[in-house]
Parts: sequence; C-alpha cells; structure tokens
Amino acid sequence: MIEKESTLKRIEELRDHITYHNRRYYQLDDPEISDAEYDQLMTELIQLEKQYADDIDIADSPTQRVGAAPLDKFDTVTHLTPMLSLANAFSEEDLTDFNERIKRFLGTEDDISFVVEPKLDGVAVNLIYENGIFTIGSTRGDGTVGENITQNLKTIRSIPLKINETERVPRRIEIRGEVFLGIEAFKYLNRRRINGREPPFANPRNAAAGSLRQLDSKITARRPLDISCYAVGSSEGITFESQSEVLHTLALWGFPVNPEIKQANDINECIQYYHDMTLLRKELPYEIDGVVIKVDSLDIQARLGSVSRSPRWAIACKFPPTQATTTVEDIIIQVGRTGVLTPVAKMTPVRIAGVTVSSATLHNQDEIDKKDIRIGDTVIVQRAGDVIPEVVKVIESQRNGTETVFKMPETCPVCGSEVVRLTGEVAHRCIDFDCPAQIKENIKHFASRGAMDIEGLGDKIISQMLDGKIINDPADLYYLTKEQLAGLERMADKSAGNLLAALERSKNPALEKFIYALGIRHVGEHVSRILAREFSTLDNLMKATEERLISVKEIGPEVAGSVTKFFVQPANVIMINKLKDAGVKPQETTPPQSFDLSGKSFVFTGTLQKFTRSKAREIVENLGGGVTATVTKSTDYVIAGESPGSKFDKARELNISILNEDEFVEFINGLQLKNN
Ligand code: IVH
Repeated sequence: MIEKESTLKRIEELRDHITYHNRRYYQLDDPEISDAEYDQLMTELIQLEKQYADDIDIADSPTQRVGAAPLDKFDTVTHLTPMLSLANAFSEEDLTDFNERIKRFLGTEDDISFVVEPKLDGVAVNLIYENGIFTIGSTRGDGTVGENITQNLKTIRSIPLKINETERVPRRIEIRGEVFLGIEAFKYLNRRRINGREPPFANPRNAAAGSLRQLDSKITARRPLDISCYAVGSSEGITFESQSEVLHTLALWGFPVNPEIKQANDINECIQYYHDMTLLRKELPYEIDGVVIKVDSLDIQARLGSVSRSPRWAIACKFPPTQATTTVEDIIIQVGRTGVLTPVAKMTPVRIAGVTVSSATLHNQDEIDKKDIRIGDTVIVQRAGDVIPEVVKVIESQRNGTETVFKMPETCPVCGSEVVRLTGEVAHRCIDFDCPAQIKENIKHFASRGAMDIEGLGDKIISQMLDGKIINDPADLYYLTKEQLAGLERMADKSAGNLLAALERSKNPALEKFIYALGIRHVGEHVSRILAREFSTLDNLMKATEERLISVKEIGPEVAGSVTKFFVQPANVIMINKLKDAGVKPQETTPPQSFDLSGKSFVFTGTLQKFTRSKAREIVENLGGGVTATVTKSTDYVIAGESPGSKFDKARELNISILNEDEFVEFINGLQLKNN
C-alpha cells in the first residue's frame, strides 16, 4: 500500500518534471537537461503508468505526447458537422457587398456586429472531446470526411489533452482550429533538415501539412507545431450565443486562441481591421494570408445558413500576394559543408511585404534550367511563406537578347578544384575535401548548437582563425591557446577566456551530439540519436560494418554506406584521434529499456476485451514479437479471447502454449518488469 502510494506520488512528480522541461525546451528554447536525461524521465514514467494503469488517469499525461507506433495508413473520420470553407473577398467593395447581402437576407437596416480574426495559413483540424478528454482528431479532408490523425495531434503540446475543468465541460464537442508552424519554428525545422541533408520545406504551411501527414507520430512529435482554435462544430451539453462567447470559452478551457482577434461593430470597423492587419502582418511571429470576418451572433449565423459549402455569415479577405518584379543581376555560387555548390540569384533590391529582398537561392542547375532563369532576366520573386525569397518565374516578354544563360562552373570558385556531378544527384560538388569553404562550414557545423554547442564560436571568428591558420579542422579548436586567440582581431582577453571555457565545457558531449557534429553525410540529428542508442560508444560505432548498420531499425543502405565510408577515411580517423587526445570524450549512451519478445510468434483467436486486435498486434510488435493468422508448429503462443475458434483446437493439438487475455496482459507486464 505504502509502496503504491509512493509510486503514485512519483508519477505525479515525473509528470510535473516533464511538463516543466517541455516548457523549457519547446516554449523557452532553453533546455536545462540533456535529451538523454529527458528520455530517462519519460521512460520511467511510461513504465510506472503501465504498471499502475488501473489507478491513474493517463489522458493528460505528458507520455501521451511522444507519439505512438507507426500506422499503415490513416483511418477516415466523418465529422459530426461538416467543416465548411470560406468565400473570398479581395477588395473593400467585396466586403461592403458581403455586409449588404447579409442585411438584405435578414431584412434589416441595423448594423451587423462581427468578430474579426487573422486567417492563419496552416492546416484545418477537427478535435473531438468526450467528457473533457481529447479522443479523436482529424484533418478537414473534403469537409465531410477527414483522416484520423489523433496520434499526431496528441504530440502537439498546445492542444489540451483534457479540457481545463470548469462547470461547463460538455459531453461531446468538436473544436476547430488551424495547426501551423511559427516562423522561428519553421526556420529551426528547416535548419535541422538541411543539416540532416533533407530537403527544406518551401513554407510553413507545407511544413505543417507534411508534419501532420506522417504515419509515424514520433516524427510529428519532433516538429514544433502549434494550434490556434477558432470555432466549435457540433456540441452536446452546451450552447453558445455568439462567436465571441465561443472564443472566450475556448480560451478558458485552455485552447490557444489568437490574441489579435477583435470585435467589430460594423463593416467599416472590419475594413479598418483588414488594413491594420496588413501592417501588423510582418510583425507577427506566424504567417497569415488574410483576415476572416464572421457574424458574431450564432442565432443570426443560423438564420443565414450556407450556400455551396460556404457560410453566408463569414468571408475571408485575402492579402494581395507577396510578389514583386525585379532583375537578376548576377548568379553567384555558395559552397556548403559537403562541397555542394548552390547558385544564388543576386537581384536589384525590391520590397516585398515590407521586407527588402536582394537574393534568392536557385537551389541547383536543374531548377535554373526548369525555370530557364538567365542573368539579366526580369523575374517575379515571392517571399514563399513570407520567409525564403523565391524566384517564381521569368517574364520572358521582357527579354532583349542580352541575357546570359547560367552554367555551373567546372572548378570550385573557392579553391579551384574540379566540380563534379555524381550520377543520381542534382547537386554539383567541389571534390576537394580540403576546400576552405567546406572546412569552414564543417567547423561551423561542428560547433553549432545541436552539435558540440560551443558558445561564442561564430562565423566571423571561425573565418579569422582559418585565415590566421591557427586551425584547420574541428579538432584544432581544442589546441588553441589564449595567446593565439588574443592575436585575433577584436578579440578581447575576456572573450578569449570565455571561448576557451566554452571549448572546455563542450568536451563531454552526449554521444549523439558528437556523432552529429562529425557531419557524416545523411546523418542528421535523428539518425545520430539512433546510432548513439544502438552502439553506445564511439568505438563501437567506428567498428560497425555496413551489414551491422543496416540491421538497425530505420538505418538504410545509404546511411550505412556513408557511415562506414566516413570512418575508413584516414583524415577522419586522424581528426577523431586528435579530438580524443585533446580530452574530448563523448558520454556513453545507455540503451533504452528494451522489452524483447525476440521474434516470438503469436496468434490471436476469439474476442479480446481489453484491446482491439490491432492494438494487441501493436503491443506484440513493439515488444519485438510477430503476429500471424494461422497456427503452425512454429507458433509460440496462442492468445485466446472469448469464444475462440478452431485455432484454439489446433493449438491444443500441437501443444502450443495458450494464454487467456489476463494471462497475456500479465505476461507482457511481467516482461516489462523483468526488463526493468
Ligand atoms: S473559420 C465556416 N477562422 O481558412 C468557417 N477559418 O477557407 C470556416 N482558417 O478551412 C473556418 N484561419 O483552414 C476560420 N480564423 C479562422 C481561420 C480559418 C484560417 C482557414 C481554415 C479553413 C479555411 C477556410
């Protein structure tokens, strides 16, 4: 009894700790503990919650946020009430027409009160809460039927798993909102993707949509998604009178509601709001593509109804597209960490939605050829997703024949070495690993936050050190002396001391950070983590053969080949030894608890009470076992639910262990305890 009480207390404590660290990580971007320590807390909590499943409510536990086993496909969900779309207005006149139409329809001369909201550019979702608990979340789909993305939505920390308790918690309610990525979160995600050699997303909207479409919710869990809620669909056990009341209640219940939402007493105030938002737009930390104007009274909304799936009581007023016309003055080449040559258009500066744009990446030769962008061309540029400027297209009619076709150089503009394009790759690369551009980018990557996290080692200092020849690879950093640093331009004594201290502090990184810091091709943060967990030490990883690497879940031949190739290159081995000699010692990774049913084969028969078949299968598979449909000699266990069929007889015949459902649960729990 006492043990139980203290465990329940420990569960509460772990939940509080994790919630605190989530906030440090996701909201403040200032974590206090390492990922490994965080994982440890989470693993302990998951264990205890399983063990005491009967005594506790896990609905709003942080364990629900980490993602579940991957799905084969999304199920469909029929919305309880359809998710409508909005008609668009593009001018003030369209808005006054909208207002007049409403008045005519209602047969009134009185002013209509509206609620005005920013129109977030993300993905619309529907969240069903039953007795206050988040049960099903789906995409809009065709408005009637969407996809069940509950597991993915649960990983979004701003979506309450449980409605904040008040007296007015409804029996069942649909809450609607927009899942989006803030601009900083988007940039951060793209930085992570570029570092991991994954293609960056074009804009926050695509990034949000792509993240929600993941069949593996653990991937979604790593995407910094957010939500803003703006409507209620069907509801049981509660009624509202106005849109303002809906929003107010949503906020009380703990749903994020956009702070820029306002009430407007008539259409003129709506128009003013539209103009205000046009200006405010560039200051907002997220993307909006217009404003939404909604009649405030729900009674009037009901009277107005909808036409062709758009309500008569609401309208979206879109901002004009953020495009501008300018001239490509030059196309220059940037050389990245892996030697990739990226063409960048240098353009006559032009203002787009309040920001001056003068350059845009053209990605690679194929992209340039596809759009046929030439130096001297007049082009339409857009701030895609208002973040990365992009050349949309060339205005061919503006050509006068002086434009020049761009061709990738045959030699590296930085070191003069040969440039090659490997078969199957879109990128051109400089072949010289000693190319100063590559060395510099490599050192920058090595020192970066997700890698060795060496504070104060910015772009400028690295350039100075390379120019002054006091470093030539990342390992050299650890041999720097105060005198050498003091010799650098604008390096005060104090900054030199700080940098040396930061280098010293970085000497015992988590293994995953160290692996990531090495900058192995195809090894981003996620793969680094997998490798660290699998191999525990750097030496083990260095010794791993390609075959052994491929045997690791989620590691494919490309990554495996790239890892082994990295560790046989003498320059890399020398660099790693130099790091070791300087006292750089990655921490050993303790492998997560593994509950291994090591290839045991299960067959289910009859009806299970506690799980669905697919859930039971998921449990077995997560523990390393397999589930088959028929009983054979090689079946290890038959799990018999209620009214088992012929498989039960077959199992007896073949003398195969038969467990009833309770025994199955005990068996699995026992296995988890043993693993503890
Ligand atoms: S209200 C009938 N409010 O715009 C009500 N929608 O074209 C329809 N959206 O699918 C939704 N911000 O994805 C509403 N404040 C807001 C919105 C908003 C963005 C999106 C939503 C919807 C689309 C309608």
